[in-house]
Amino acid sequence: EGQTLWGGRFSAKPAEVMQAINVSIGVDHRLWEQDLKGSRAHCRMLMAQGIVSADDGAAILDGLDRIEAEIRDGTFPFRDEFEDIHMNVEARLSELIGAPSGRLHTARSRNDQVATDFRLWVRDACDRTLAQLHALQRILLDRAEAHAGDLMPGFTHLQPAQPVTLGHHLMAYVEMFGRDHGRFADARARMNESPLGAAALAGSPFPIDRHATAAELGFDRPMANSLDAVSDRDFALESLSAASICAGHLSRLAEEIVIWMTPQFGFVTLPDELTTGSSIMPQKRNPDAAELVRAKTGRITGSLIALTTVMKGLPLAYSKDMQEDKPPVFEAFDALDLALTAMMAMVAALRPNLERMRQAAGSGYSTATDLADWLVRELNLPFRQAHHVTGAAVKRAEALGVDLGQLPLAELTALEPRVTEAVYKVLSPEASCASRLSFGGTAPDGVRARIAEWRSRLS
Ligand code: ARG
Repeated sequence: EGQTLWGGRFSAKPAEVMQAINVSIGVDHRLWEQDLKGSRAHCRMLMAQGIVSADDGAAILDGLDRIEAEIRDGTFPFRDEFEDIHMNVEARLSELIGAPSGRLHTARSRNDQVATDFRLWVRDACDRTLAQLHALQRILLDRAEAHAGDLMPGFTHLQPAQPVTLGHHLMAYVEMFGRDHGRFADARARMNESPLGAAALAGSPFPIDRHATAAELGFDRPMANSLDAVSDRDFALESLSAASICAGHLSRLAEEIVIWMTPQFGFVTLPDELTTGSSIMPQKRNPDAAELVRAKTGRITGSLIALTTVMKGLPLAYSKDMQEDKPPVFEAFDALDLALTAMMAMVAALRPNLERMRQAAGSGYSTATDLADWLVRELNLPFRQAHHVTGAAVKRAEALGVDLGQLPLAELTALEPRVTEAVYKVLSPEASCASRLSFGGTAPDGVRARIAEWRSRLS
């Protein structure tokens, strides 16, 4: 009762504080599925290599099935005195099947066991995230397609800059989430090697078949250095880094939703289901979901910093510090999962106020660049001079309280005598947008072409 699995050379039980600082089952129970998978692969390999007898192997596999059933129906006893998921499973296996259980850990250490389990977990998490990113991109594509020709202001410094379309703006995020997808896919490809069989740190004297376990677990190959296999967590760091960058993208979109939802902007609304009210101010409709997506970035990036800091300076091979790898990774992927899911719901439900956005697109002298470009194109002014003339025109328009398109021709010819009526047709936000046909620009036809490309990439 209460014997540790490593008690042979010990005569006293761990102090309370030893157990308190050492215990990880409260966190790493989440690795149970990966742990069973790894143990089954290891057991089958031991049987195939004649290291464990067919009878003992069968008993072990049967016991692992029973453990899986117990965990699934909630009757498995997770016990702190067995420290982590690996020893909880092994202790329970011993209770269920007796003596043969002791053979499962042949040619294995918790060091390669946990490295394997954790890789499998992070790989699954990356796969989930990859699917979610594509799902989010599809939702953005649908919304972008519907609004490929609907105007909104483009900003720099959050000041009106040049008109763009809502579709073009949303497609910017499709590109960002596409790169995020690429980062997770790269991380997944690099992490897909098996540590199992590295044993404690030096490999094993038993005739194990690491290629077989690697293949059974869906890894491309076994890791080539046993010390490296049990002691690096770069796969987790790389995934956290991808998660952190992705969270940054989500946060920027969330921030835009927050801004667009202010009555001052009034660009979009979100339905009741995705907003909250105030307990005191009856008029309120708050974009809490967007704010929380924005905030999750803190946790996710914090997790990257936490694990980077844990890993720096650890001598090879395994050190117990590395047990602290799981909380940040679990926390980050939980947060990212929720943030992506909430963002999908918001993007799908956003109700743009197209009239308001169109009006805003034309205000703030947003077509000033078009005027300057016209002066260059039609009158062959050097751009710097055109910039100056246009600046003066904006100043006049501001003084008269009109948009550039309403500035009387006499005002323009006073600044540059060769200006003609023809200039007015470039001064509308529609014309401005439609003229930006350079590759990657906001012209609706270009945006539609990019949407079609992404659709075929995602199908
Ligand atoms: N719970 C440990 C972890 O997560 C498992 C590996 C323990 N290895 C050891 N040599 N104490 O890292």
